[in-house]
Amino acid sequence: MIRSVVRGFGAHLPDRIMKNSDLEGVVETSDEWIVQRTGIRQRHIAGEGETTASLGEMAARQALERANMTPADIDLIICATSTPDNTFPATAVNIQNRLGMHHGAAFDLQAVCSGFIFAVTTADSYIKSGLAKRVLVIGAETFSRILDWNDRTTCVLFGDGAGAIVLEAAEGEGTTADRGVLTAHLRSDGAHRDKLYVDGGPSTTGTVGHLRMQGREVFKHAVGMITDVIEAAYAATGIGSEDIDWFVPHQANRRIIDASARKLGIDDSKVVVTVDHHGNTSAASIPLALAEAASDGRIKQGDLVLLEAMGGGFTWGSVLLRW
Ligand code: UT7
Repeated sequence: MIRSVVRGFGAHLPDRIMKNSDLEGVVETSDEWIVQRTGIRQRHIAGEGETTASLGEMAARQALERANMTPADIDLIICATSTPDNTFPATAVNIQNRLGMHHGAAFDLQAVCSGFIFAVTTADSYIKSGLAKRVLVIGAETFSRILDWNDRTTCVLFGDGAGAIVLEAAEGEGTTADRGVLTAHLRSDGAHRDKLYVDGGPSTTGTVGHLRMQGREVFKHAVGMITDVIEAAYAATGIGSEDIDWFVPHQANRRIIDASARKLGIDDSKVVVTVDHHGNTSAASIPLALAEAASDGRIKQGDLVLLEAMGGGFTWGSVLLRW
């Protein structure tokens, strides 16, 4: 059976750091409120000349280097983003061009905060069907550019950054002992579209728009949706929380992460948390967290890693993989 195995990972955050205390001068808020409600202490903000593609390119280069590959080895680039450089062409083709890659295919995938989960699942399908052998999967965002900096209920929550992995086709036994993606579960329900959205777009207002969110409503649905797709992953594989080595959730809010882990019975010591130092980076948050935990030696080859995300749409999903 063909499996999609992680061969490399990369991450890139802009140099500029905005601490909670810096936001106290922008909107009526406090470090205490932000830390208590979200666990966020600081976020990175893209500077002049930095774009989603430039952040994505840096993460992609690192992932390729760690995989011991060059762009010539890649046949598909998928970039998960909700903050593309332009309405079109896709940010993925900008990254492809920046990498000096002029073969294969590149496209963007839009599932907001669940984008990386959707992109890994799509890459896995391309690999399993034989349509691609090596896929560069990127999550890259510049949410600072779509925030309303007068709205304290949203502007304190998000940040910019990019993460990437390289997935390669490898022969497996078809058991859960295989390395690679073991199972993936995607969901969406557009009935919730107005709980987290951007109030502009090319076909409606002709503007880029700003992020709008009913935070409490999102919070209310998050834990149930997350645990639902994780239980689907458990049911498909016979794996349970006790088998998981690392839980790498979408980094939106510390309270959602803790409540999900508690409900699933995953021990705190197995949860990778990075939201404190880069806020919610939407599609970039999972590959950023993966890169941090893999580069500091926590995630090791053979470890069972559980990924999940939930975000605008709503969209939500899980990926269970052996590193
Ligand atoms: O990736 C998925 C995307 N999003 C999420 O996962 C976010 C999900 N939601 C959340 O994380 C939380 O709902 C928030 C962090 C957004 C808000 O936390 P909350 O505990 O649900 O607060 P709340 O919205 O119920 O607001 C409580 C109070 C309100 O004041 P009143 O009406 O009680 O007087 C807000 O106006 O906190 C106020 N408030 C703030 N105060 C200081 C809202 N934002 C701020 C702020 N600083 N930045």
